[in-house]
Amino acid sequence: MRVWLWLLAAVVVVTAGAGIYFLRPVNGPARDLTLVGDATRGAYLIRLGDCISCHTDAKNGGAELAGGAALSTPFGTFFAPNITSHPEAGIGKWTLAEFSRAMSDGEGPEGHLYPAFPYENYTLMSDQEIVDLFVALQATPPNPTPSRPHEVGFPFSVRPILAGWKNLFFRPQRYVADAGRSEEWNRGRYLVFGAGHCVMCHSPRNALGGIEPGRELTGNPAGGTGGRAPALTAAALAAEGYDETSLASVLSDGFTPGFDVLGAAMGEVIADGTSHWSAEDRAAVAAYLLDKG
Ligand code: HEC
Ligand code: HEC
Repeated sequence: MRVWLWLLAAVVVVTAGAGIYFLRPVNGPARDLTLVGDATRGAYLIRLGDCISCHTDAKNGGAELAGGAALSTPFGTFFAPNITSHPEAGIGKWTLAEFSRAMSDGEGPEGHLYPAFPYENYTLMSDQEIVDLFVALQATPPNPTPSRPHEVGFPFSVRPILAGWKNLFFRPQRYVADAGRSEEWNRGRYLVFGAGHCVMCHSPRNALGGIEPGRELTGNPAGGTGGRAPALTAAALAAEGYDETSLASVLSDGFTPGFDVLGAAMGEVIADGTSHWSAEDRAAVAAYLLDKG
C-alpha cells in the first residue's frame, strides 16, 4: 500500500513538473524599443526577411502584405495574415512592443504564434532592425482584406499547446558574432540563420516539427512548407558545382551551375527576397555557406 502511494505521489510530481516545464513562458532578452526607426532601412528588411512571399497572395492578385496563400505543413494549412497598416484587418493598431514580442518571442496579442511564421529566425534580429521593420510596416498602404483563419486540426488548433513546442524547440536570442571569423562570414551566417531564414526550409525536422539538432542546413528531403529543399552544406554545394560567384548569382537570377532554374518555394524566395538584396549580402551568404573567410 505504502509503495503505491509513493508511486502515485511520484507520478503526480513528475506530471506537474512536466506541466510546469512545458508551460513556462518563453521570453528572450529584453529589447531596447526607444530607438528611432527608419522606414527605408525597414523596407530593405522586408526584403531580407522575405515577408512578401508568405504574406501576399500574389497568384490571386492580392495586395502586397495583405495576407498570403495557403502554406501547407504536416500540421495543417496556414494563411499568413494581413500585416499592412490597416487598423482592423492588419497590424495598424499594434504597438511596437506587441510587434517586437511577435517577432522575437513568437507571442501575439491572442497567444502563442505558430512556427510556420519564422520567429525562430527573426528573434536573432537586432533591436534596431525590429524598430525599423515596424516603422516600414506602419508605412504600408492600409488594406482591408480580412486574414483567413488557419485550417489546422485538433490538437494543433489549440494555441496554448504551442507553449510545449516552444519550450522544446525555441530559444529566443540575439545574433552573437563569432569573433574568430570575418565580418562577411558573420553577416552571411546571420542572414542564413536570422533574417533570411534559409535554415527554416533547408533542414530536416522531427515528428513534432522541430529542426533536428546538429543537422541544420543538411536539407529537408521529406519536404516541409516549401517542398523538398536540398542540402546547403559546403560539401553539397561544391558537389553541385557552386563556387562563391555562382552561389551569389543563383540568389539573384535562379540559374544554377548545372543549367537548371530554381523554382517552387525557392523561386519565390529569389523573386521576392534575395534578388532584391544587395550584392554584398548575397556574397556574404555565399561566403558563409561555402565556409570562406
Ligand atoms: C514562411 C512564411 C512567413 C514568412 C517568411 C513571414 N511570415 Fe509572418 N506569419 C506567417 C504565418 C503563417 C503567420 C501566422 C502565425 C499564427 O497565426 O500563429 C504569421 C504571422 C505574422 C505576424 C502576426 C500577425 C497577427 O495578426 O497575429 C506578424 C506581425 C508577422 N507575421 C510579421 C512578419 C514579418 C515582418 C515578416 C518578414 C520579416 C514575416 N512575417 C515573414 C508566415 C510568414
Ligand atoms: C520557403 C522555403 C525555402 C527557403 C526560406 C529557402 N529555400 Fe532554398 N530552396 C528551397 C527549395 C524547395 C529548393 C529546391 C528548388 C528547386 O529544386 O527548384 C531550394 C533550393 C535552393 C538552392 C539550390 C541548391 C542546389 O542544390 O542547386 C540554393 C543554393 C538555395 N535554395 C539557397 C537558399 C538560401 C541561401 C536561402 C536563404 C536566403 C534559402 N535557400 C531559403 C526552399 C527554400
